[in-house]
Amino acid sequence: MALQIVPTEATLGAVVRGVRLAELDDADFAAIERAWHDHAVLAFPDQHLSEAEQASFSRRLGPLERSLTANNVGADPEIIVLSNMREDGTLWQADSAHGLFLQGNNYWHTDSSYKRVPSKGSALAARVVPATGGETAFADMRAALDALDPGMRDYLEGKSAVHSYAYSQGKVGGTETLSADEWDALPPVEHPILRRHPATGRDALYIGRHASHIVGEDEGDSRALLERLCAEACRAPRVFVHRWRVGDLVLWDNRCVLHRGLGHPPDQGRYMTRTTLAGDGASNEWSLQAG
Ligand code: SIN
Repeated sequence: MALQIVPTEATLGAVVRGVRLAELDDADFAAIERAWHDHAVLAFPDQHLSEAEQASFSRRLGPLERSLTANNVGADPEIIVLSNMREDGTLWQADSAHGLFLQGNNYWHTDSSYKRVPSKGSALAARVVPATGGETAFADMRAALDALDPGMRDYLEGKSAVHSYAYSQGKVGGTETLSADEWDALPPVEHPILRRHPATGRDALYIGRHASHIVGEDEGDSRALLERLCAEACRAPRVFVHRWRVGDLVLWDNRCVLHRGLGHPPDQGRYMTRTTLAGDGASNEWSLQAG
């Protein structure tokens, strides 16, 4: 079967078939990269990639990030394990530090926006999925910006938000999974609220759970505004929900998409591996290829 890219009914997302990501020639890779820029989220059903194949496909899009915490690292340091399952198959309690750490992902966010150089994209592969729940939802921040009242867009133009992992994860818990050194490496950072995508030239809202408040504004008021913007942005027709089957891989663009896990019964296992594309910037200290 030839490469097929079928857009979803939402403003973002496409399902890609007729390709094996483990054996991708240059022409198909180029078509996939173009489709990624166009649709922002690509779902590849039934790939069944090994961890090494996932890392190798992801590296074609750029250097990868190291994990936030050593607790999440698989056999290969480029593989970030997001799972409620211990190595022996028993499950972490939802209210354990690890369980709470994972639950942070259930709020709308863009990966690594709390870092000085945020991630440009992520690929998530399903290895064990629960019988119910555990979907991942994606929201289109390009379309959200297009739908924004022009007065609000003007108001946000040129403004930055403070992104802080201490703020976002502090609300959920599980902060003790990070070492003191890791916390030292994660001071609050500032990013523009409107960002232009370097490949497509399209502007997008850059917000989500790590965005604590607007620089130079009242903390409480601007936090409430960011929360309202996020709630408005993450609504139909701008949301695509992927229901996982073992073997699927989904690739998304963190520069213009928010995502969140939808949660699942705590007595069911879920084991996902993520490769996170480091943001552009020669001095990105989170990039595994940084000097
Ligand atoms: C993530 O936030 O990167 C993972 C989302 C999920 O587990 O569905």
